[in-house]
Amino acid sequence: MSTTPNSPASDRPANPDEPSCKVNAGSHDAPASPAGKRPAPPCTLVIFGAGGDLTKRLLMPALYNLAVDGLLDGGMKIIGVNHGERETKEWVDDLHKSLEQFAADKASTFHAGKLDDKAWDWVAQRLDYMAGEFETDDVFTRLKQRLEQTPGGNVIFYLAVSSRFFKPIVERLGKAGLLKEGEGGKGGFRRIVIEKPFGTDLASARDLNAHILSYADESQVYRIDHFLGKDTVQSILAVRFANALFEPIWRREYIDSVQITAAETIGVEGRGKFYEQTGAFRDMLPNHLFQLLGMVAMEPPNSFDAEAVRDKKADIMNAIQPLTPDDVVFGQYEKGPAGIGYREEPDVAPDSTTETYAAARVFVENWRWAGVPFYLRTGKRLAARRTEISVQLKPVPFRLFRDTPVDALTPNVLTLRIDPAHGTSFDFNVKTPGPVMQVGAVQSSFDYADFFAERANVGYETLLYDCMLGDETLFQRADSIETSWAAVDDVLHPKNGGAVPVRGYPAGSEGPAEADALLARDGHAWRPLKQQAIEKK
Ligand code: BG6
Repeated sequence: MSTTPNSPASDRPANPDEPSCKVNAGSHDAPASPAGKRPAPPCTLVIFGAGGDLTKRLLMPALYNLAVDGLLDGGMKIIGVNHGERETKEWVDDLHKSLEQFAADKASTFHAGKLDDKAWDWVAQRLDYMAGEFETDDVFTRLKQRLEQTPGGNVIFYLAVSSRFFKPIVERLGKAGLLKEGEGGKGGFRRIVIEKPFGTDLASARDLNAHILSYADESQVYRIDHFLGKDTVQSILAVRFANALFEPIWRREYIDSVQITAAETIGVEGRGKFYEQTGAFRDMLPNHLFQLLGMVAMEPPNSFDAEAVRDKKADIMNAIQPLTPDDVVFGQYEKGPAGIGYREEPDVAPDSTTETYAAARVFVENWRWAGVPFYLRTGKRLAARRTEISVQLKPVPFRLFRDTPVDALTPNVLTLRIDPAHGTSFDFNVKTPGPVMQVGAVQSSFDYADFFAERANVGYETLLYDCMLGDETLFQRADSIETSWAAVDDVLHPKNGGAVPVRGYPAGSEGPAEADALLARDGHAWRPLKQQAIEKK
């Protein structure tokens, strides 16, 4: 994660429909890009799962964006491995077609408008397809031969595959000697990028870590949580640590509670098979939502070195009080204003008890946060798409305004908006105009688009670039993955066998009523998903 201050908006391409291509023709010594960053070192990126959705939707758009920004080295190569014989040209044409579709689609995160042909050609020339089954030795032998011909020796193996292939691929890479750094005296790096889900509970995550670490060193393993690739998530640390305003009040003495929401309007989108096994809790809580919690709650690191940041985050994961079934509410969407019920989705059992909604009350047991509830919720087919963090301050200490009791004042809430809105807002009170001293609530907000020319960024640009540079700040360390799973183990495997009941909620609603009751126990309420702006008078 670069800590160079952002270049002003005026330095950036103003119109995403007219991208400017700054690709590097040659070496690692190419000049720094306008964003003040240097191109990554030359490397070969081997993508397992080259024909999959992740490659099309996220990796290729991210590589294209990095090429547009001149952040890739001329010596880069991209080898796509997938089952099924195909010519490279067919694969490249297929990728190009999807990229053009995403670029033209206003609803896509990669809404770049017209593609920059020069940048795409630059990427396309470096693509090479290799057919192979992930569970046979043959493909690894051929890969080894291919990699021996590539200069430099730096290789990233990206596992954009179903999690059942993680172990066999790493094992075969290890046995084929492909994970040995400095192979042939070339001094190159060998890195593995692993997507989530990283295990399905503590035992399986431990087992997976042990397996991977028997073939590779921890420093070679880049475990992705794509939420950390989002600018708005990285900005949580900037808001906290680059402003004098927030940090003094960022503690239990002033903060009443924190709400972390990742609400979606989409259903399971054809992923019924995966979702039936996973559910909303495993899919989002101990990974994405805990990562947001970590960014909000971590102590200031001494520097932005990967280990300094990851140590502070690990402290938070360790301080999370293990959740019990009583701290959690599960829900499943039923037929409602937004469409069919979960049980009617393809590949879903008609009597499925998989949760599509999960809410949790979490405590971080350390000096700064003891007693402050963190309320986490996520769900499919909810009333609005909204990923955000709301930090609510404690009320003022006594009644100063005759006509306005303390509890009638609007609480101060700082909201960090991650998606789809990008920015912050702050709710506070002012005197209303007129001769009488009356207090009224207002909201001050900042939107990224008002200050910066936003680019069609899919969130994988920084992650790929950092991996090429060897910067692990935004990747998960083995210990943090395991402590996160440990914190939810009693919910996944309840000691007395009492599974968390799954409550129904209408598709398109705010979630199950029981989730409201979870907060009402503490005298709190969820912030409505639909309408959160304070109304103008
Ligand atoms: C993924 C989950 O990790 O994150 C999906 O598997 C979820 O179920 C997605 O929809 C949400 O990510 P984003 O970036 O779209 O908010």
